[in-house]
Amino acid sequence: MTNEQYYSLIQPYKDANQILMTRLEMLNHNLYNQEADPIHMIQDRIKEKKSIEDKLKRLNSKGGVEDARAMLADIAGIRIICYFVSDIHNLVSALKKQSDLVLIKEKDYITTPKPNGYRSYHVVFGVPVYYMKKKEYYPVEVQLRTMSMDFWASMEHRICYKKTRDNPTELKKAFCQYSEVLHGIEDSFEAYSEMYAQK
Ligand code: GTP
Ligand code: MG
Repeated sequence: MTNEQYYSLIQPYKDANQILMTRLEMLNHNLYNQEADPIHMIQDRIKEKKSIEDKLKRLNSKGGVEDARAMLADIAGIRIICYFVSDIHNLVSALKKQSDLVLIKEKDYITTPKPNGYRSYHVVFGVPVYYMKKKEYYPVEVQLRTMSMDFWASMEHRICYKKTRDNPTELKKAFCQYSEVLHGIEDSFEAYSEMYAQK
């Protein structure tokens, strides 16, 4: 893939990210009618050229633009860091109510964490992008996490993700325990929040 091909490939994905970011900003300031905002932080990113090429290689593709479009659902990505698990569910259900968004894929690693302890809610939406003469849907991968899930995932990504380590079983066990401890802390904070919300 040449640089030129890469930049024309990613343009509509950037547009799709921008559309969804705007909708999320709106949900953030009106989801609870001024009571509190559900989102602590939000980031969007476009997959880098090298990451696209590496992932296509892993999928046994020659790495062309057509394959990238057909095989990758995470060229556009948004990561939403919420305060509580309930905020994640409320945001996902508000997005699902937006009738022009197409639900492509959904993975609930909160109800069922990955064996290593990874927790997050992943959902891929097809976002309609309107141009002068056409409308096309582009996938955007949305990852929703709480702050403690993001803390764990960032550390695990830094230390282990897609890397080979000489003590994988020990590491996995330790990280799994950290994930559970963080989960407990998070539940305690949420319980305070619910208790004081009633007063
Ligand atoms: P990828 O080929 O990595 O995109 O996996 P997938 O298509 O099976 O999707 P999945 O929803 O499982 O994971 C997609 C993304 O979630 C990854 O690119 C990471 O950003 C994140 N992720 C998934 N599993 C882990 C994990 O075990 N640790 C960390 N730190 N991040 C993870
Ligand atoms: Mg991915």
